[in-house]
Amino acid sequence: MSSPSTLRQRPAALPASRAALGERFSQVRAHSLALASTLDPEDQCVQSMPDASPTKWHLAHTSWFFEAVVLAPHAPEYVPFHPAFARLFNSYYETLGPRHPRPQRGLLTRPTLSQVHAYRAHVDSGVQAFLATGGEAARTAAAPLLDLGLQHEQQHQELIATDILHAFSCNPLLPAWQPQEAPALRLASTTAALRWVRHVGGHVEIGHDGAGFAFDNEQPRHAVLLQPFELADRLVTCGEYLRFVEDGGYARPTLWLSDGWAAVQAQGWSAPAYWLAPGDARAPADGWQVFGPNGVRPLDPAAPVTQLSFYEAAAYAEWAGARLPTEFEWEAMWGAPGIAQMSGHAWQWTRSSYEPYPGFRPLAGAVGEYNGKFMVGQQVLRGGSAFTPPGHARPSYRNFFPPGARWQFSGLRLARGCA
Ligand SMILES: [Fe+2]
Repeated sequence: MSSPSTLRQRPAALPASRAALGERFSQVRAHSLALASTLDPEDQCVQSMPDASPTKWHLAHTSWFFEAVVLAPHAPEYVPFHPAFARLFNSYYETLGPRHPRPQRGLLTRPTLSQVHAYRAHVDSGVQAFLATGGEAARTAAAPLLDLGLQHEQQHQELIATDILHAFSCNPLLPAWQPQEAPALRLASTTAALRWVRHVGGHVEIGHDGAGFAFDNEQPRHAVLLQPFELADRLVTCGEYLRFVEDGGYARPTLWLSDGWAAVQAQGWSAPAYWLAPGDARAPADGWQVFGPNGVRPLDPAAPVTQLSFYEAAAYAEWAGARLPTEFEWEAMWGAPGIAQMSGHAWQWTRSSYEPYPGFRPLAGAVGEYNGKFMVGQQVLRGGSAFTPPGHARPSYRNFFPPGARWQFSGLRLARGCA
């Protein structure tokens, strides 16, 4: 919000690398505010479930991350905005002090949204001042953490979208978050029949190759032995998934993992989250409808299905006579001829549990808590969704969520073994 004026104030002699980093910082920070710009203050305070956070909290937490990880350790002249904000907006960093309980983030009517905007502006100014006047040694030491902070903010930008969508899905009015369908949010559709693309198997190299940014969980790069397999050339569509629903897929326990069937029973699942069955009083028209960022719209049979748990993805694959790919199979097929929709449409559940790669070591310091401590009880998703900021994901990127999570833009791609 204060970025343009901050940029104008930058000394003309600022080295190009610092100017470029400052510009990138401004762009990423501005995008968070742009995402929230169609929301009212009341929208931005609500917390619809413990797993989701208010928009206002996301805006503040991403600022706290820069304050706690970049400015506090490396910019001695920086003065924190408010002494209580570290407690309010620390998410899960045990080494950085006590925290407000996650399920109670929606109770934080104070600070107000305007105070959170002022907090963001304060942190923005602090980072830009550090880039402009900070010593070379301090800036060099902080550069990887600043980069991590930008990647972290981009992750929260997708969470702003998924969390407000969940909040709105709980509102009987089913309001539209984005009144106009923006190109960046449009899910690509396909009417083409599914084709299988073969991989001969053998040893493949998996993980980040060392060029550019990557999270610690994408490393070290290592060899994995694959058996021959085939991967679907595109994502499963809503039309295909509807046939699973109408074939009684949610009433046939033999298709489901035990935990998945228990979730179906306990949660009363009968279709993907945000699908409205024919006759639903909230729907404006007959037939299957889907609630999304643009409100309620008729189900598009050619659009990739999203809002699936891992359990639903696995059950659909079983029904289709196939299986989910491992994360290694998925990565090995990146860029293969004939493969489409690998990124930018929907996150794709894999059959791989979220485990450390051989030789994995968390980052040093507090940011060592970023990924490694979550490596239990979660499944890996690959790809990236229509809500993933452009340029954020990459072939080695590992997203992860508990198998019952349905509020992300998560779909699936089929795989099968072959001789
Ligand atoms: Fe975070």
